[in-house]
Order: sequence, then structure tokens, then C-alpha cells
Amino acid sequence: MADAGVDVVREYDDRSWAEDGLTRAVEDVVESGHVLAFPHLAFALADAERRFLDPRWADGKAKNVSLRWPAGELRGASGEPGDLAALQRMIARYADRSETLALRLFPHYRGQLRRGNTSFRPVDVAGRVRSWRQDDTRLHVDAFPSNPMQGTRLLRVFCNVNPSGAARRWRVGEPFEAHARRYLDAIQRPLPGSAWLMAAAGITKRRRTEYDHLMLQLHDRAKADAEFQRSSPQARVDFAPGTTWVCFSDQVLHAAMGGQHMLEQTFQLDAPHLAQPASAPLAILERLTGRALLSA
Ligand code: SIN
Ligand code: FE
Repeated sequence: MADAGVDVVREYDDRSWAEDGLTRAVEDVVESGHVLAFPHLAFALADAERRFLDPRWADGKAKNVSLRWPAGELRGASGEPGDLAALQRMIARYADRSETLALRLFPHYRGQLRRGNTSFRPVDVAGRVRSWRQDDTRLHVDAFPSNPMQGTRLLRVFCNVNPSGAARRWRVGEPFEAHARRYLDAIQRPLPGSAWLMAAAGITKRRRTEYDHLMLQLHDRAKADAEFQRSSPQARVDFAPGTTWVCFSDQVLHAAMGGQHMLEQTFQLDAPHLAQPASAPLAILERLTGRALLSA
């Protein structure tokens, strides 16, 4: 596996999620496409919560167990009401810790960071049989067919809570600009009227802008390209249990190769509120195409 030049992980020694923790104001590190890793930042479970580290709590239909905010309702789980309430509290505590951490690491985003879904993933990566488009063992940047982001960034806080020593095994890949250049010339512009039509038909939750079209094309072309998967610049990264890591998953090429039991908090941030908006995929794609990508 080629790993020439792929060196995207930056490690920090933090041992606390709280406001008085070690690292702060590292917006430039995350915005330039790094993964911030905290090998000593475990998410502590109460003894009574350890039983949740079991795939039986996932209802088998949804990809993950998740909380939807602002109400924090639990989705994708099955069990008795009392157990589900305790599971909800565990995941909600992770959401709170992640938010405190993110605002300390990135104080520039204060007042602008929106809490998205929180997910709990007790199912083994190896057991998640998926179509190629949903196969997250293939390198990709995050982009979703039905959920156009319209330039809004996806900041994610992950934590491996595996109780038996198994790492979350990722691959990470080339910088976003190199990735965009790889496929951009081959991507056709969307058909006139298609964004309106997909929104009107409920296929998309809102307009799929040209930015979203390009991001989805990058996601799909990368996953469908076996040669890219095999031989593009990449590196393996193992996140041991007790490790927390943070990245913009719409910018960092990533793939989950193995592991079980992870928590993940998504935050949304509108690109103008980045410390350096020119580092965003939106700005990079607008520079490379020479046109505005959010307009009609
Ligand atoms: C992904 O975001 O592609 C998957 C991450 C994971 O499950 O480790
Ligand atoms: Fe992903």
C-alpha cells in the first residue's frame, strides 16, 4: 500500500474533555485537513453501561443507533423502555462531552457550531454488508445523496469504546485538492432543472447545489474506482480503545476497515465561519472550476 506523503494525523496528549483541558485554538490544524488524535482521551462508561457494548441493541434496520437533536430522541435501537432510556443518556453524555471538547479546540466556532446526530456503532465494521455506494471500507469524503450540505461543513468527533482491545482501523488518503483534481475534468455538470426536480420529488431534503453534485460525484467515483482504492496515496491508522479523534469528514479521505463499538458526534458549521474559509472544499472546488457552486 502506497503511503508516500500521507501524514495527516496529529497527536495530542489531552486527558480531559473539560474546558480546562490541554489543547485549544487548533482551528488551522483541522481546517488544513488533519485528523486530530487524542490517544489518552477515553470516554468513560459506568459499569451498568457496559452491557450496551453489544450489537443486540441495534434494531438491525438502521446503520447505527443514533440520537437526533434538538430533542435527543433515540433511533435505531431496540429493547425495554428503561434500558433504552439509559442508552439514550449514555449517548447524550457523549454528545455533551464532544461539544465541550470541540468548543475548546475550536473557539472560533463558538455560537456557530450546530449539533447534528450522535451515533453509537456497536456493530462490527466487518459485518456491515453494504452496496458499493454505502461501503465505508472504501476511501471517500462524506457526501450524501438525500442530504445536500450546500457548503455546510461536517466536523466529527469519534471515540473508540471497544472493551476488548480492538482498534478502529482506518485508512486515510490524499489531500482534498489533489483528490478533486483527480476526477474533476470527468464530472459532467448537473442537468438543468434536476436539482429542483429532486427536491420537489422528495429525493433530496433540499436543493442539491452544484457543490453537492460535485461532492457526491467525488464520493461515488472514488468508491467505484478499484485502482484508486488500491494504489492512491494512503496510510493505515489504528485508533486504539480509549482514543478520541476529530476531523472534517467532508475533507479528509477516510475508510473504516475494521473495529467495533464507537461513538461519533457530528457538528455542522457553515463555511463562512471557518477561521480560513479558503481551506474548505467549497472554496477549493470554486477555485478549480472557476465558478460559484451554491447559486442556482
Ligand atoms: C465513515 O465515516 O466512513 C465510517 C467511520 C467509522 O465507522 O469508523
Ligand atoms: Fe465516511
